[in-house]
Amino acid sequence: MIRVLIVCLGNICRSPMAENVLRHLVAEAGLSAQISVDSAGTANYHVGELAHKRTRGLLADHAIPYSGTARQLTKDDLASFDYVLAMDADNLTDVQRLRSAHTRAKIGLFLDDAYQASLVDVRYVPDPYYTDRYEETFELVMKGSRAFLERLRRDHQL
Ligand code: 4NP
Repeated sequence: MIRVLIVCLGNICRSPMAENVLRHLVAEAGLSAQISVDSAGTANYHVGELAHKRTRGLLADHAIPYSGTARQLTKDDLASFDYVLAMDADNLTDVQRLRSAHTRAKIGLFLDDAYQASLVDVRYVPDPYYTDRYEETFELVMKGSRAFLERLRRDHQL
């Protein structure tokens, strides 16, 4: 199983959106037995909560199933996941601070593959908790998820 963890700050807006979008694309591709997706936040502000209602609303609008509750990223995650994808530069810095001798995850930005393929012109997913631009977040999340899944399929011959 290839294990993917998507990380943002609060784990209620961006990363649960991306977790559920990517899991849906994986299921559509018939790859659920090969790829699993989870998400976490670098902060503990919202641990145990459902995703923001705008995030859940957008997923529902696109007929994408939602599951999960917020949790905080741990050092152990970097040992047990294969890929850890951060939503923005601050999230990436915080993930990298948790690196240890046990870390085996490939750590990068969620939009790296979409950016390299010129599908998006930004490196980071802006935080809709502050911008209130949830639709824009969804567009970036969809493009990032598609591009990352393509990369997984290439890298793992799926
Ligand atoms: P997220 O957005 O990192 O995309 O889940 C945020 C959610 C909550 C807070 C910050 C960002 N907060 O400060 O409570």
